[in-house]
Amino acid sequence: MKFFLDTANLDDIRSKSALGLVDGVTTNPSLIAREGVDQKQRILEISKVIDGPISAEVTTENLDEMIKQGLEYNKWHKNIYVKLPCTDTGLKALKALKKKKVKVNMTLVFSVSQAVCCAKLGADFVSPFMGRLDDIGDSGIELIADIKQAFHNYGFKTEVLAASIRSLDHVTQCMQIGCDIATIPVKIFDKLLPHPLTEKGQEKFLEDFRNSQK
Ligand code: E4P
Repeated sequence: MKFFLDTANLDDIRSKSALGLVDGVTTNPSLIAREGVDQKQRILEISKVIDGPISAEVTTENLDEMIKQGLEYNKWHKNIYVKLPCTDTGLKALKALKKKKVKVNMTLVFSVSQAVCCAKLGADFVSPFMGRLDDIGDSGIELIADIKQAFHNYGFKTEVLAASIRSLDHVTQCMQIGCDIATIPVKIFDKLLPHPLTEKGQEKFLEDFRNSQK
């Protein structure tokens, strides 16, 4: 499974990418607003750190403006994926942008039917929101599994990008069902590797070795 970082914080992207495990980055208007930065400048800064897909979301509900923004973002860098909302207008923009070979990530996906509509129009990624579905008593992981199954049934090449991840459990559930990509907030990314028994075991190995060499 590919790991994307779900953040627009450059320091975090720099430090987390050091291990070589970050395959891409997703941003959204809220994440950009949280950093208080210019969207284009931040995306260009991220593209200097990460050699992989970087999602930049459109910020309008008007179709012509959406297409214009998508074409503009596409010129910023070869790794840009234009993020469009899974709405009627978003799907029209998807169709127009795919004609121009722009890479597209369809966001705010909450159902199998939405995901299949996006895939039929050639979306590169669909982003089902796990946490927000769990919040309303539904199951994020069931949606991911159902979308994977539907895409398999019809041979769609669209990749499933699990978004709105709230726990390490979400990430491991995605791995178990073979989700293509998970976009992971930094505080959860930090939980991917550590295990108390690994640390304890390593301490003991070193202690035993030191004692044996006295
Ligand atoms: C990423 O593509 C999404 O915009 C993000 O994961 C949404 O996460 P949230 O539901 O925590 O805002």
